[in-house]
Amino acid sequence: MYTEKVMDHFEHPRNMGEIENASGVGTVGNAKCGDIMRIYLDIDDSGIINDVKFKTFGCGAAVATSSMATELVKGKHINEAMKITNKAVMEALDGLPPVKVHCSLLAEEAIHAALWDYAQKNGIEIEGLEKPK
Ligand code: FES
Ligand code: FES
Repeated sequence: MYTEKVMDHFEHPRNMGEIENASGVGTVGNAKCGDIMRIYLDIDDSGIINDVKFKTFGCGAAVATSSMATELVKGKHINEAMKITNKAVMEALDGLPPVKVHCSLLAEEAIHAALWDYAQKNGIEIEGLEKPK
């Protein structure tokens, strides 16, 4: 059912934990299953994401997608991180079973929510970023 990469990220999640005094924090819930994900971003003055951590209360696919999503945004500029979609995360994991696609949305939404928090705190706008629901 799951690809090797999904199993790997589920069993050995990357960047799990939290960041104290993070530049931006985003917490989102999955309307479909009630699971929760939180993303912490540490962003430097030039807009580069130097560190990222996540906490997920959710299924294995949610853990694996958060883990992969943190790997994809780490070291990127906020404008690039902004463009990382759940589709890109799924592709990086070699796919998810159809019933688990909604789980990957959590990761994208949590990153956007954390970027939004950062933008609010710093009085800036990030292109294409909309207020989280
Ligand atoms: Fe909550 Fe998937 S429904 S773990
Ligand atoms: Fe809830 Fe996967 S079933 S996030």
